[in-house]
Amino acid sequence: MAVLVRGGTVVTADREFRADVLCDGDVIVAIGENLDAPAGAEIVDATGRYVMPGGIDPHTHMELPFMGTVASEDFFSGTSAAAAGGTTMIIDFVIPAPQENILDAYKKWRGWAEKAACDYSFHVAITWWDDTVRDDMGTLSTEYGVNSFKHFMAYKNAIMCDDEVLVNSFSRARELGALATVHAENGELVYRLQQEMFDKGLTGPEGHPLSRPPEVEGEAANRAIRIAEVLGTPVYLVHTSCIDALEAVERAKLEGQRVFAEVLAQHLIIDDSVYRDPDWRTAAHHVMSPPFRSPEHQAALWRGLQSGLLNTTATDHCCFCTPQKEAGKDDFRSIPNGTGGVEDRMSVLWHHGVTTGRLTPSEFVKVTSTNCAQIFNIYPQKGAIEVGSDADLIVWDPNESRTISVDTHHQNIDYNIYEGMTVTGVCKTTLSRGRIVWHDGELRTERGTGRYIDRPCFPKYWDAQMLKNQQAEPTPVDRSGSK
Ligand code: URP
Ligand code: ZN
Ligand code: ZN
Repeated sequence: MAVLVRGGTVVTADREFRADVLCDGDVIVAIGENLDAPAGAEIVDATGRYVMPGGIDPHTHMELPFMGTVASEDFFSGTSAAAAGGTTMIIDFVIPAPQENILDAYKKWRGWAEKAACDYSFHVAITWWDDTVRDDMGTLSTEYGVNSFKHFMAYKNAIMCDDEVLVNSFSRARELGALATVHAENGELVYRLQQEMFDKGLTGPEGHPLSRPPEVEGEAANRAIRIAEVLGTPVYLVHTSCIDALEAVERAKLEGQRVFAEVLAQHLIIDDSVYRDPDWRTAAHHVMSPPFRSPEHQAALWRGLQSGLLNTTATDHCCFCTPQKEAGKDDFRSIPNGTGGVEDRMSVLWHHGVTTGRLTPSEFVKVTSTNCAQIFNIYPQKGAIEVGSDADLIVWDPNESRTISVDTHHQNIDYNIYEGMTVTGVCKTTLSRGRIVWHDGELRTERGTGRYIDRPCFPKYWDAQMLKNQQAEPTPVDRSGSK
């Protein structure tokens, strides 16, 4: 059925204008003033509201098996919660266990995701290396629409990559025209510091940030970026959380390297004081990696987002309920790492970003949707309001407020890291490929209506990246005349 979004102000990454938006089937079919509604069309009144591209969250982990348990949010509940908050697409992660065939893992995750209620795609993690991994990266990129491969530089004895894997995989990604993405923390240092904290009697969640200081992230960010530079591979840093990593990104960008960086909404908004909460559960709820940081780092992250050093915002939505967190009651190293937030990203960023004047509405669209669509090569199918684009739209009330709470959220987790926070900026209506899935507080998502989105590799701009390394093409010294 057609849907006419009438009377709103359309906000895209580059402008704001008054227009109606007509959707039919999966896509936007007309944009303009005073559009006629086709017979039978549903009308959404957007008067006094903004009409924006649905959010894209480039970093979620629905039903992830991790640290001896499985994330509580599945692809249906998670994408439904996302829709309630104005996010219409997620990019989740296939994370094969070491030695697991990566194509088999990918197919397993595709099966799990069939229940999704909004569109989704997958980064594929490279957790080990041999020729089958090399070949399967090729198959994934050419036949399954995967243009990004993830590397965990932390989580020793589990999914951590050493430099040999990084070098092999980055090099292969370059060959394929795919993006290398990294979780940048030095896993060896984390392992050592965790042991030191534990031996000092710091067994509670307060030991977690002390074992993952900013330097640990800065070292890994710099190493990943330098490896990518030498190999000519574009690289994307997930969850950049501190000045040390930002400095590595800044230096590389100023040197002309193709580096992208993501920041999590929660790292911008919540500081590291949470780990000293007297209630063990509250502190444990915030155990995630990298950890929450001090206000000094948060201020730098905001500046990074405002200046374009940080390109995208995400949530790393990876929910573990309190009983799951209690696996680490006596040892913080066993608390499953992860927090929720897929439902709240758009609101908290609007509130703390736009209402404070840090971001304009168009900049908000860039960092919540368009930049992600462009970096991961699905623009303008996603991240745009254009005729022919997928009708993933939100109607946003910039003046309405709501108070975030576990009692009212739609996420499958028994706490909310933003509990009690009142935010101005509320998603009134969400359209997922032309279907109204959220309207005036009513969730209308349907199991299985989400679609897998192919992300083709990027042959076009890869060669420019390589030029940097080819400028000083080495030549052997001719010693034929010497004795
Ligand atoms: O603590 C986190 N971030 N858990 C999810 C896995 C990851 O590192 O992204
Ligand atoms: Zn991570
Ligand atoms: Zn993650």
